[in-house]
Amino acid sequence: MKNDLSIIILAAGKGTRMKSAKPKVLHEIGGLPVLLHVIKTAEKLKPQKIVVVAAPGMDDVAAIAKPHAVAIQKTQKGTGDAVKAALPALKGAKGDVLVLYGDVPLVRVEDLKALLKLRADKNAGIALVTMTPNSPGPYGRIVLNNDGTLKQIVEAKDGTAEQKKITLCNSGIMCVDASKISAWVEKIKDSNKQKEFYLTDLPAVAAAENQKTVVLEVDPQSVGGINDRLDLALNETLFQRRKRMEMLESGVTLFDPETIYFAWDTQIAADVVIEPNVIFGEGVSIGSGSKIRAFSHIEGAEIAENVSIGPFARLRPGTVIEDEVRIGNFVEVKKSSIGKGAKINHLAYVGDTQMGDETNFSAGAITVNYDGFDKHKTVIGKNVMIGSNVNLVAPVKIDDGAIVAAGSTITDNVQANSLSIARERQTDRKNWANEFRKKKKGKKK
Ligand code: UD1
Ligand code: CA
Repeated sequence: MKNDLSIIILAAGKGTRMKSAKPKVLHEIGGLPVLLHVIKTAEKLKPQKIVVVAAPGMDDVAAIAKPHAVAIQKTQKGTGDAVKAALPALKGAKGDVLVLYGDVPLVRVEDLKALLKLRADKNAGIALVTMTPNSPGPYGRIVLNNDGTLKQIVEAKDGTAEQKKITLCNSGIMCVDASKISAWVEKIKDSNKQKEFYLTDLPAVAAAENQKTVVLEVDPQSVGGINDRLDLALNETLFQRRKRMEMLESGVTLFDPETIYFAWDTQIAADVVIEPNVIFGEGVSIGSGSKIRAFSHIEGAEIAENVSIGPFARLRPGTVIEDEVRIGNFVEVKKSSIGKGAKINHLAYVGDTQMGDETNFSAGAITVNYDGFDKHKTVIGKNVMIGSNVNLVAPVKIDDGAIVAAGSTITDNVQANSLSIARERQTDRKNWANEFRKKKKGKKK
């Protein structure tokens, strides 16, 4: 069931402090655009509607916001003006309007639920999320009344030296009485140094109508937000710390958690062991009993149970690894399915390949999948033995039980259970080396 709740996500800001060609909210945390972190958290609250506020021309932002509504804020005249741009899409909204910031990706859903509950319990017009960050620098400062309710938010840029000493800060996130928000936003003025319409003026507007604002203080790291590249790095660090905790709590062994990096969607079953210095890109799942050894880089790979990967292995998107497979050091696998119990233990490249159960792909063997224009498929059956340093020039098919001799360059299909050798036969010249050395030494003198 949906709640009497609507959510506005502000994302129209220029994000100049990022010094980037792309909008701030499209930078990634754990491989997912910052804005999508906020949207996913918002969705967990089951609101009636989510409206993302974007600037004109931010087509990429609008595209990732789908299927949610997008409101365009024509000129970036401040956070109050941005909320105003979203309100026509929320006509008739009941209950709460929650305002989230597109640049605050790690806000916790539990904190948002607590915020909604606080406004209801205290019968307040507004409930605001606050924090006490290590360096309050650019954040709005919270001035409280004697009863602990909020008196005023003072933007750092407009505050007096005395006000800037306040350490309790505005996270920006607030929840507002849906029946009042439109009227209150209309009353915000741009009478400040920036000539902007600040959303932070809303509590003062509400107070003039005897409506109080209550505050909820949360962990500053989770709502610190992202204004520049340093903040982006700090948010990534916090995200990774959370992911590692999640993994440990769900029964995954991490040898040295701080050196293992996850993507937003990494899925790992209990009783998987991960050695140090492993990086997961998007789209990875790993089944129980598998082991990922040190210095492996894995993305877009579905790994089944009791598999061993690495050390120093690279799995690229489109890879499906069945049970009990062993992928060893300096092996790269791309867009391939590897059958149960198959072994690719050393120095190999397998791309665009379908490999059957129990096949052995030896050291230095590779699939030659690219002709400079197109990619071609290699199909290898079950119980096949591909010798060392073999080139399988795709498209090519090696049937069940075949053996391909070491050093062969295979350009034609190989029949089931046959031996294929495609290399020059060896010749030996007796004593040739000795004669050669003698000749050379004689020359030197
Ligand atoms: C804002 C708050 C500040 C708070 C801080 C917390 C105001 C006036 N100040 O400052 O009190 O401590 O967040 O992170 O609200 N945006 C728009 N349209 C605009 C301007 C901004 O959509 O015209 C969006 C931005 O994309 C961003 C969010 O609103 O997602 C916040 O804007 P930003 O400029 O980063 O505000 P801060 O200076 O950080
Ligand atoms: Ca900000």
